[in-house]
Amino acid sequence: MQPLDMKKQFGIFPMPIVVIGTLHGTKVNFMTAAWAVQVDHNPPMVGMALSKDHLTSANIKTAGWFSINIPTADHVVATDYVGIHSGSETDKSNAFPVFYSRQKKAPMIEGCALSMECRLVQTFEINSDPFFIGKIEALFANGNYLTDDKPDFSKMPPLLYCSTDGSYWQVGERVAKAWSVGRKKDD
Ligand SMILES: Cc1cc2nc3c(=O)[nH]c(=O)nc-3n(C[C@H](O)[C@H](O)[C@H](O)COP(=O)(O)O)c2cc1C
Repeated sequence: MQPLDMKKQFGIFPMPIVVIGTLHGTKVNFMTAAWAVQVDHNPPMVGMALSKDHLTSANIKTAGWFSINIPTADHVVATDYVGIHSGSETDKSNAFPVFYSRQKKAPMIEGCALSMECRLVQTFEINSDPFFIGKIEALFANGNYLTDDKPDFSKMPPLLYCSTDGSYWQVGERVAKAWSVGRKKDD
């Protein structure tokens, strides 16, 4: 193994790319995030590390709701666009086609592989930036990417972000069955 310079390379990669949707009053905003992760399963909860300077962070603090959308390679241009412009200066409300759940708490993106409406349940500070934890209150999927009502990776190209080359990638081949292939070591 070769040691690397942590100033030039860092952390976990690749990361799934998500687009976070928020409301400022009735005004829709979206931003791109790579630092989002599932943090619990029952109830389903997600966490994400955001800069305190983003309009999205202010919107989440005020409204207490946000959406997480899993874009596919088809959304790459709009996904990058909402990651390089702030809603504080640029109106990003038309970057994606929007839909809402019945309770209409956060804007979600029509056509994404998955969209989830999340209620803010906890906020931690990490080096004075917020780490938001939300409970998924509603979940929607693009029917084109489902098999037997489950999101099917072979049908969709979710975007991955690779920090080492600053690029979006997409998922390759299935390798093995998780929670199972390791059993071979038991023999
Ligand atoms: C590929 C990519 C990944 C990003 N990941 C994050 C992230 O995980 N956390 C974060 O705070 N900002 C992240 N950003 C930056 C925000 O998306 C960007 O600053 C955006 O303009 C904030 O928008 P807002 O001010 O409208 O909320 C990312 C941007 C890109 C292009």
